[in-house]
Amino acid sequence: MENINLKINGLDVSAPVGSTILEAAHLAGIKIPTLCYLKEINEIGACRMCVVEVKGARNLVAACVHPVNEGMEVYTNTPKLIESRKKTLQLLLSNHDKKCLSCVRSGNCELQQLCHEYGVEDEDFYEGEMNHYELDDSAAHMIRDNNKCILCRRCVAVCEKTQGIGVIGPNNRGFATMIGSAFEMGLGETSCVSCGQCIAACPTGALYEKDYTKQILEAIADPEKYV
Ligand code: FES
Repeated sequence: MENINLKINGLDVSAPVGSTILEAAHLAGIKIPTLCYLKEINEIGACRMCVVEVKGARNLVAACVHPVNEGMEVYTNTPKLIESRKKTLQLLLSNHDKKCLSCVRSGNCELQQLCHEYGVEDEDFYEGEMNHYELDDSAAHMIRDNNKCILCRRCVAVCEKTQGIGVIGPNNRGFATMIGSAFEMGLGETSCVSCGQCIAACPTGALYEKDYTKQILEAIADPEKYV
């Protein structure tokens, strides 16, 4: 396959024709942060965490969707990029339930990890209007907490492309955009097959399994109650 030659952070890099900047950077062992990206499943350039500078380009470009060109010069870690990624994280936090200590994903949350890496603290986010959503606990196996959703659409993509079900998607527009089912049905009312792929794909604590430990322990202690 024909290769494209470019420079990333001054290093000579060669990547197959049709590669994105992100893929070329991975080939060269250069890390670019991502949030919405899921290889070959969700490549939609939505979150802007992966922005890079391309010499001669007027604006920052999203590395996960921007193709490489011959002779391109890319920079992945300039002060301008760090500032842009910090702003992105601050804006995400400005409409995010920040009860991280009690969150099921605390310590294993991609948003929390990036905030830690970029030094974004609780007090850095902008105060403003926030969305407040009821938990969707209508499904037997999981809970959707849209207060922690960052609209990356990774759950939507795996439901549709990996599992072939497609029962969730974005509803409404602009600030009111939220991920859910058609006609505002709870997940339990749809043809969801309880595969859990969406939970595995979620970068935050917006989707998580129900915990039946208490009921199981009660059933073991008093089986008659559950016959
Ligand atoms: Fe590239 Fe989200 S990872 S825009």
